[in-house]
Amino acid sequence: MSNEILKAIQQRRTVSQGSFTDEPISKADITLILEAANAAPTHKRTQPWRFVVFQENGLQRLGNELSRIYKEVTPAEKYSEVAEQNMAKKATMSNVAIAIVVNYTGDLPEWEELAATACAVQNMWLAAHSLNVGGYWASPGLINHLGTFLGLQANQKCIGLFYMGHHNSEQRDPVRSSIDEKVRWEN
Ligand SMILES: Cc1cc2nc3c(=O)[nH]c(=O)nc-3n(C[C@H](O)[C@H](O)[C@H](O)COP(=O)(O)O)c2cc1C
Repeated sequence: MSNEILKAIQQRRTVSQGSFTDEPISKADITLILEAANAAPTHKRTQPWRFVVFQENGLQRLGNELSRIYKEVTPAEKYSEVAEQNMAKKATMSNVAIAIVVNYTGDLPEWEELAATACAVQNMWLAAHSLNVGGYWASPGLINHLGTFLGLQANQKCIGLFYMGHHNSEQRDPVRSSIDEKVRWEN
């Protein structure tokens, strides 16, 4: 495929912590990734995406908080110590974690602000991919309890954590059913 944008769209994959290397993501690359997010389309230009970037000790604090919340909200019969530790590891095995937040302005239906923020995340993901940074959008139920930790306002909601790292995963094809099953043509 000669067109770089189409190539990136097709080749971007979810890359998880197991494939992350220790190579740090440079501040310049993090900035490029955030600037790509900020270029997303938005109705009435409300630009509803907000991000909290965790690095170094911040990742440790995020991991501790995810473990703490897991312990607090998981019913005793479902609780496992391994799962609690794994919650923290998702953060500490990443090079950077970005909390994805929607800022609901009230000027638009909420779905539009949510959709615009998802567009920002896809931009972020493609930008990361273009810089050889892998990542994925994690949306465990625990994110509904991160409000205080993230310092969110009443009109803001965390819709996920974007975990990132340089990686050594092999390129793989997307798992998708045919587009023909999802399109009706009207001529
Ligand atoms: C809104 C959203 C939430 C997601 N949440 C999770 C998640 O909690 N855990 C996870 O492993 N992957 C999550 N993913 C990633 C998907 O599993 C992944 O995109 C999908 O399997 C397709 O793989 P690909 O990204 O390599 O094309 C999420 C993706 C989106 C768009």
